[in-house]
Amino acid sequence: MTGGNVVVVGSVNADLVLSMDTLPQPGETLAATGIENLIGGKGANQATAAARLGASVQFVGRTGLDEPGERARRTLAAAGVGIDHVVAESSVPTGQAIVMVDGSGENSIVVVGGANAAMTAADVQRAAEVIAAADVVVCQLEVPQAVVAAAFAAAQGTTILNAAPASTVSPEVLARTDVLVVNEIEYGMLGGDATFGSDSADLPATVVLTLGGTGARVLARGADPVDVSAPRVEVVDTTGAGDTFVGALAEALARGESTEAAVRRAVAAGAVSVGALGATVGMPTADQVDALLDD
Ligand code: RIB
Repeated sequence: MTGGNVVVVGSVNADLVLSMDTLPQPGETLAATGIENLIGGKGANQATAAARLGASVQFVGRTGLDEPGERARRTLAAAGVGIDHVVAESSVPTGQAIVMVDGSGENSIVVVGGANAAMTAADVQRAAEVIAAADVVVCQLEVPQAVVAAAFAAAQGTTILNAAPASTVSPEVLARTDVLVVNEIEYGMLGGDATFGSDSADLPATVVLTLGGTGARVLARGADPVDVSAPRVEVVDTTGAGDTFVGALAEALARGESTEAAVRRAVAAGAVSVGALGATVGMPTADQVDALLDD
């Protein structure tokens, strides 16, 4: 398999991952059963997933000039992600996330945007050449929407918007999105309806609705919905499963696979990823995805 070119424009965080039997209730103090310092952020996770599956990936983002930022750049580079367009700057610290994971693998995440929130369209314009050359350009919503708009304006390949965390999205960004990836909450926030009918008219022509452990649904304007079911797997941590899905979708689309085939790979990749603690630890190689699809 020859890899395509993917550019991910987005967030990178230092994830403090706390394991516990149950997530805390408001007002409750409880003891963690484990603690890990990992690199995360939806953008960095998606870039890592696509690289692990064989794509040639460049990441466009921002860190602080601090230890987490240095660790983030080192971790991304070690994962095979190009970091020439990651700006390190001293005025704002690297983004941070507190990730709490319970005994069933469910999580609660609180994010401090930091350097991600300080990204500007100028960061994207400095990377305009690699963005224009990419087969697929991927963005999420942990950076300002002006950044996403600039990235998609520079893109000449397929654009994927993962509209996470849930938010409204500007008509300008939606108009430049080829494939919108959302969970049910994010889809509702954008006014999507169950039948992908007239209420969804302002959405991109292809929407991929992720359905957690159930799988995903492909909604393409003018076609019947296609459901892709997920294999049953043992769940350790669902953090980053959506990011693995998006990275895998980007990798497959960049190689020229059809949307439906790419979604099948993405569902399989997401299923493998939940078997380990941490957003990127369980992300699969292409061989692991092939093995699951062949089962
Ligand atoms: O999607 C998971 C990611 O969300 C975590 O890695 C955390 O950093 C937050 O951005």
